[in-house]
Amino acid sequence: MKRIEDLSVKNISWLNSNSYVLELSGTKAIPDILPGNFAEIRVDHHPGVFLRRPFSYLDVDEKNNSISFFVKVVGKGSRKLGTLEKGELVNVIHPLGNAFSIPDNKKVLITGGGSGIAPFIMLGRELKSRGNEITIITGGRSSEDILFSEEFKAYGEVLCTTEDGSLGEKGILTEHPIFTKDNFDFDLIYTCGPEGMMKAVAKIARDKGIACEASLEHLMACGFGVCLCCIQETTEGNKCVCTEGPVFNTNDLKW
Ligand SMILES: Cc1cc2nc3c(=O)[nH]c(=O)nc-3n(C[C@H](O)[C@H](O)[C@H](O)COP(=O)(O)OP(=O)(O)OC[C@H]3O[C@@H](n4cnc5c(N)ncnc54)[C@H](O)[C@@H]3O)c2cc1C
Ligand code: FES
Repeated sequence: MKRIEDLSVKNISWLNSNSYVLELSGTKAIPDILPGNFAEIRVDHHPGVFLRRPFSYLDVDEKNNSISFFVKVVGKGSRKLGTLEKGELVNVIHPLGNAFSIPDNKKVLITGGGSGIAPFIMLGRELKSRGNEITIITGGRSSEDILFSEEFKAYGEVLCTTEDGSLGEKGILTEHPIFTKDNFDFDLIYTCGPEGMMKAVAKIARDKGIACEASLEHLMACGFGVCLCCIQETTEGNKCVCTEGPVFNTNDLKW
């Protein structure tokens, strides 16, 4: 059930020069959150920032009543959130959106580029608990962008690509040799990241007849289906990414 509430900043830990984990805690028990859901976070106290900003949940800690978000700094809102002090209140509408499908005992591939890795910590844990065999590929510009590898190792095989070759295979994510292996035989592929990367992953999946789910990161304003600024064209007409997504079967997208 969606709710609007003030949560307090428990911690902000910077992971590199332009991204951090924001941990928020509340007094009420946190709502049920599924992998793929997101929250609309209000970014107050900045004259240039009026609208809420959408962020996928990185993780949920039910014992300590806290939720965390991975935030990459791209503009005023994401920068401002990173300057909050411990104990400051942040207004959040959540949980929003739909969730990834979770099969049982299948072979799955997770592909995350840049900040697109955020929803995959929760997803990986859920997939693992349901007996799935998991391979995870993360892609970034350099080794600094390859994050959460230790956490992902708890779920399955972890691979990476960097554009400058400083870690893993050199190149963009879809240039990883795994995509050209004869035994590329996954049941389901998940993708989140820059749209060009997701489109490339979706094409590979389509060509090989593999189901693929993408979590879209469209610009959003309201986050709950009112402003219509997050429209995505699909085979069934225009859909709001905030209410009917952010997770879509890529075969349904008019890309
Ligand atoms: C469902 C969903 C989940 C998301 N999850 C995460 C996450 O877990 N971690 C994370 O770091 N980011 C995530 N994003 C993207 C995040 O919402 C934007 O980066 C953020 O809103 C930018 O706000 P800003 O004020 O810092 O930048 P702005 O000043 O609003 O914009 C700065 C620049 O970033 C671009 N931009 C703004 N919003 C987006 C967006 N949604 N996608 C791509 N580019 C954008 C603008 O076009 C502009 O060029 C998610 C987006 C969606 C829709
Ligand atoms: S963000 Fe307003 S309708 Fe989706």
